[in-house]
Amino acid sequence: MADRPVILQIKQVVKSFGNVHAVNGVNLNIYEGEFFALLGPSGCGKTTLLRMLAGFEFPSEGSIKIDGKETRDIPPNQRPVNMVFQSYAVFPHMNVFDNVAYGLKVAKTPREEVKERVQDALALVKLDGYELRKPDQLSGGQRQRVALARALVKRPRVLLLDEPLSALDAKLREAMQLELVKLQKAVGITFLIVTHDQEEALSMADRIAVMENGVVRQVAPPGELYESPNCRFVADFIGRMNLFAGIVEGHEDWGGLNVKTELLGKLTIPHSERVSSKLHLAVRPEKLRISSEILPSSYFSFPGEVDAVVYHGSESHVYLKTDAGPFLCATLTNLSRISVRPKKGDRLWIGWAPEDTLVLSE
Ligand SMILES: Nc1ncnc2c1ncn2[C@@H]1O[C@H](COP(=O)(O)OP(=O)(O)OP(=O)(O)O)[C@@H](O)[C@H]1O
Ligand SMILES: [Mg+2]
Repeated sequence: MADRPVILQIKQVVKSFGNVHAVNGVNLNIYEGEFFALLGPSGCGKTTLLRMLAGFEFPSEGSIKIDGKETRDIPPNQRPVNMVFQSYAVFPHMNVFDNVAYGLKVAKTPREEVKERVQDALALVKLDGYELRKPDQLSGGQRQRVALARALVKRPRVLLLDEPLSALDAKLREAMQLELVKLQKAVGITFLIVTHDQEEALSMADRIAVMENGVVRQVAPPGELYESPNCRFVADFIGRMNLFAGIVEGHEDWGGLNVKTELLGKLTIPHSERVSSKLHLAVRPEKLRISSEILPSSYFSFPGEVDAVVYHGSESHVYLKTDAGPFLCATLTNLSRISVRPKKGDRLWIGWAPEDTLVLSE
């Protein structure tokens, strides 16, 4: 992506409402044609940042450039961006055609051109043939596609989507996620999507920025964010994570880190970077192995017992109480219909490969 031109340049942007710093010094470069996601818990400033890009709010400090142009004095309707809101912003009394055509008519686009562009936009979202339907004659997913067509018909350079799928049920949501990605690749417009659903961000975006309290904590492609989070907050927010505290006791010449932990006593982790004395170690539940027999000697392993098993269909989450005290969670894929699953009270060995340990210094 970095070889493409920057289309959105966000520099040291702050937005304060009284003494609330909704956005608190954000720097981001988003590239042309990128599918970029802003991810973070409720209230971390995602919508506020999007509204500043669209021109509905003004930054208290910092600068936003779109296509290299400072946006401070550009009103919303003259920015090459368009926003799709969380609640389907469609007019209930207008049919699909008029809903999509609305923005073009306001801009006094010639009638023939309106017709052509509306047809193109409806074809893109696979709603050709639905021109005369009213919104209440459409499913939730179809209504959301009308909202998308309305934004696309203006041919923005950047489409801002604020939780566009949050009102849809799980199945439809997954189908729309796939469709949105295909659509984005087909039209080549830069998409900036806001979500607080980490799976949605992981499955759709080229890159993700994780926000906390108005600050961006990490920007990375999905796989890197999941496997190499840079801090405890990101590790814990993305997916499920086992975390436990440790104290650094020293570094080995070959790149090992000696750590003392309550869970495992002293251990040496492959980790060449220097870290401060207190840290957190982390391991993903799917990387844990549990077995009634002793684990390979290369593993970190220790005894414990099953505290609870929660069945999720394709997988089960096994909650484990280690003899040393800490609780851990392991994910087991239910590979066959009649597999014997562990049950509460089972004694077993728990462990993982050293290289699957994450070292988090904050
Ligand atoms: N107009 C406003 N006046 C005062 N405070 C505001 C205003 N808009 C947002 N805030 C505050 O700014 C912070 C960030 O809000 P924002 O809507 O950007 O969060 P968000 O990340 O979009 O959350 P959600 O996931 O719940 O939509 C919140 O603490 C919110 O209460
Ligand atoms: Mg929001």
